[in-house]
Amino acid sequence: MLSKSLIKFDNLGDKRGSLISLEQNNNIPFNIKRIYYIFDTKEGEARGFHAHKNLEQVAVCVKGSVTFILDDGNSKEEFQLSSPDVGLYISGLKWREMHNFSDDCVVMVIASELYDESDYIRDYDEFLRCAK
Ligand code: TYD
Repeated sequence: MLSKSLIKFDNLGDKRGSLISLEQNNNIPFNIKRIYYIFDTKEGEARGFHAHKNLEQVAVCVKGSVTFILDDGNSKEEFQLSSPDVGLYISGLKWREMHNFSDDCVVMVIASELYDESDYIRDYDEFLRCAK
């Protein structure tokens, strides 16, 4: 089973508009060490195609829309993200892919660790061996 979860963030907005606050160990379930965002993705491009050995992440599509595919080696699950008040929590050994970026898509990713290339598994067969 995929231990996926979608986190719904409270919207603290008022008549002026919306506001969402993300806090470590509150609505983000880990200590935050890094934030990065993906934007201006060219038409037809997909990203990801890797797993992490030891990383927790929450992905938020703050603008536009994107399709995430999570794969634990046994089953795959697809998530359409198109709302800034929803986060996709990704933990454990999961192959992840991002597809169908809208032109205006901005995906913000909150991560529990600093960037570390040695934490990546970029080969799908190696991922399947590790996932067994
Ligand atoms: P990569 O993780 O391969 O992107 P994606 O999975 O979205 O396709 O990262 C692309 C490049 O950016 C790669 O050279 C590593 C670098 N990078 C960093 O330096 N720091 C980071 O936090 C991230 C996510 C990537």
